Amino acid sequence: MPAPLKTLADLRSRRWFADAGMRGFAHRQRMQQQGWRREDVMNKPMVAIINTWSDLSPCHAHLRERAESVKKGILMAGGYPLELPAMSLGEVMVKPTTMLYRNFLAMEVEELLRSLPCDGVVLLAGCDKTTPGTVMGAISMDIPTLFCPAGPMLNDRHVQGGVTRSIGAGTHTRMFWDEHQAGKLTATELIALEARMTRAPGTCNTMGTASTMTAMVEALGLCLPGASSIPAMDSAHTRMATDCGERIVGMVWEDLKPSRLLTRGSFLNALAVQMALGGSTNAAVHIIAMAGRAGIALTLADLDAMGRRVPVLANLFPSGDRLMEDFYYAGGLPALMKTIEAELDGYALTVTGQTVHSNLQTATVHDEAVIRPLANPVSSAGALAVLYGNLAPQGAVIKPSAANPQLLAHKGKALVFDNQPDMLLAMQDPLLDCDANTVLVLRNAGPVGAPGMPEWGNLPIPKKLLQAGVRDMLRLSDARMSGTHYGTCVLHIAPESAVGGPLALVQTGDEIELNVAQRSLHLHVSEAELARRKARWTAPAQPYQRGFTKLYQQHVTQAHEGCDFDFLEGNAPSPEPAIF
Ligand code: FES
Repeated sequence: MPAPLKTLADLRSRRWFADAGMRGFAHRQRMQQQGWRREDVMNKPMVAIINTWSDLSPCHAHLRERAESVKKGILMAGGYPLELPAMSLGEVMVKPTTMLYRNFLAMEVEELLRSLPCDGVVLLAGCDKTTPGTVMGAISMDIPTLFCPAGPMLNDRHVQGGVTRSIGAGTHTRMFWDEHQAGKLTATELIALEARMTRAPGTCNTMGTASTMTAMVEALGLCLPGASSIPAMDSAHTRMATDCGERIVGMVWEDLKPSRLLTRGSFLNALAVQMALGGSTNAAVHIIAMAGRAGIALTLADLDAMGRRVPVLANLFPSGDRLMEDFYYAGGLPALMKTIEAELDGYALTVTGQTVHSNLQTATVHDEAVIRPLANPVSSAGALAVLYGNLAPQGAVIKPSAANPQLLAHKGKALVFDNQPDMLLAMQDPLLDCDANTVLVLRNAGPVGAPGMPEWGNLPIPKKLLQAGVRDMLRLSDARMSGTHYGTCVLHIAPESAVGGPLALVQTGDEIELNVAQRSLHLHVSEAELARRKARWTAPAQPYQRGFTKLYQQHVTQAHEGCDFDFLEGNAPSPEPAIF
């Protein structure tokens, strides 16, 4: 495709700075107030750097420094850098859940870019929701966009029983906590691990949601090739940030914006990467929402089809046993994409101005124990399967590669919890009426019900069963699950219980049957009985009567639709702001 070249006069920032009237006079004044020269303001493209750094986002702790590297690259390429702070959604600290605010961040990014004189943008993000949130906003604004991923944290080592193993945040957090609950890890060991498991800035270093989403954004063509795999504390990461700054200026002149890069093919590339990575189930909501912003139809059926086609090749927690630093040394995402190139749309255009195929020319796998060949996958069970049935008419998802294979076809009696506090309390009860075959059910944990669809879907195993050696059970909810977690968890049940989905009608003692091979989830209760229960059902009271949460509950879509706001979906143009 020929690249339409922009001239200085075409830049949207000219509306602010080349204006011959009093407004232009005032705008130029204010830039010079900050020490910039008039000729810079008049002659350079203005490039925003959206920075999601904060003191409560430890995985983004280095992004202030990286912003300086991006600025260096922008200046070197003849641009004018503008750093703009945006909402920082550190996954661990934000309550009740960052998902409640993903759309808030997306709106903030879109409106920042629209209301200010920005010709292009570098997005500095990487935590679970900062990646989809910033990308969704930039897609909607549709100016040249380059995503600069925060990069994973470094591995650490832990010695237990004379055995040394690499550890990191996420999967190991739950694993060690369960070991402690089961009495296999002392309090002293747990305290020591607190300080060791997160030894450097950067995103969680398992194939959790952060690593999944940054890799998928790279596969969409919005990152420099290989960028998402570079550890945050590697000097290559700093150089990559400088490269981002340099490249975005070229993209502005080439007018290489999301609408020119994103196609159904590029979204299917992202899905293929998700499956080959054994990526997070959270990607199901984020990628559908991102595609929705681009006006591209993508459904759970597309995810299920890709999950059946592409096996898990990346030997990374929670599906495998290595960490992101190992993945980088093994060749990183380009090497993985090279391995599955037959499944990719090689003609998809990327931020380099080149196609996926040409970006992958030199990619090589350096360690087949980490990036497995197609003939020797980590799992053929699939990173994601979509289930349907009378319990999930609009679908539910499960991650077979991180589940207990014996539970993928399972029938058991439900033990139902209406809310998270009751469930957590009950799990400690030594007399809780359950066994390893019980199906644990949590409801009122979806987008509207929780609200914000928190990561409660990895319901803890009852303590009495943990102590008896049980490590996995079939668990069902309308919640999400952290991508770093593992277990036989059916998630994102849609419609959710709070809007009257069938999950609201399940009672303790009902029989539930899961069959992943048949993609089915069935509640063995007659239609007549379900109709009786439905007639008696009333929606749970919602205490949120004001502010953003009220807006969220009124407009959030269901999980199978991406949980975006209904008024933000689609790619209808929004007028440029008036400048008077
Ligand atoms: Fe930010 Fe895990 S907490 S990536």
